[in-house]
Amino acid sequence: MIIPHYIIDNLPAQVKIPFLHWTEYMEKNLSFNLKDSEIHTKGHAERVLLYALLIGESMVENTKTDLCALAHAAIFHDTRRLEDGLDTGHGARAAFYYMKYCEMNKGITFMHIASLIMQYHDRDDETGLKGITQSTPDEAERTIRLYRIFKDADALDRFRLGPNGLDVRFLRHQEAVQLVNFARDLVRQTI
Ligand SMILES: [Fe+2]
Ligand SMILES: [Fe+2]
Repeated sequence: MIIPHYIIDNLPAQVKIPFLHWTEYMEKNLSFNLKDSEIHTKGHAERVLLYALLIGESMVENTKTDLCALAHAAIFHDTRRLEDGLDTGHGARAAFYYMKYCEMNKGITFMHIASLIMQYHDRDDETGLKGITQSTPDEAERTIRLYRIFKDADALDRFRLGPNGLDVRFLRHQEAVQLVNFARDLVRQTI
């Protein structure tokens, strides 16, 4: 785990419990294609997991199950990259890996919502919204809400690319904007 203990100790229980559980799960079980990448391995996934849970928890409409879907998306979303660039399609490959992984492994239950978030996280919002609506018409509203939260969480870790790595104007939620200074500092502390 790379997040300092004093930060974890001060998290609300609704965030701390799933954060610790899924970080440990990722470290023990998941394999990342780009093993030597500086920007797309477990450190990135761990910070995105924390941001996704913090944003998700601060929006009252989200349930425990929703936070679990965000956690699954965070730990799997960049596992199947082939390169550090845009690598469009790595989201769909991650979703496939996630599905197969859940079929064969204990301790994790496949969530269609999580697979759709990962599948479309590397596409622009318009494409994502369209794909999600077609795939799950009955759950589109909820899935899109979580998709947008996840994309903000992934974006908050753009500070790992440099102090100007994130254009804050692109964030979708005020809850994410409130985490900007925290995310900038966390990169300094964990990279
Ligand atoms: Fe990605
Ligand atoms: Fe990512």
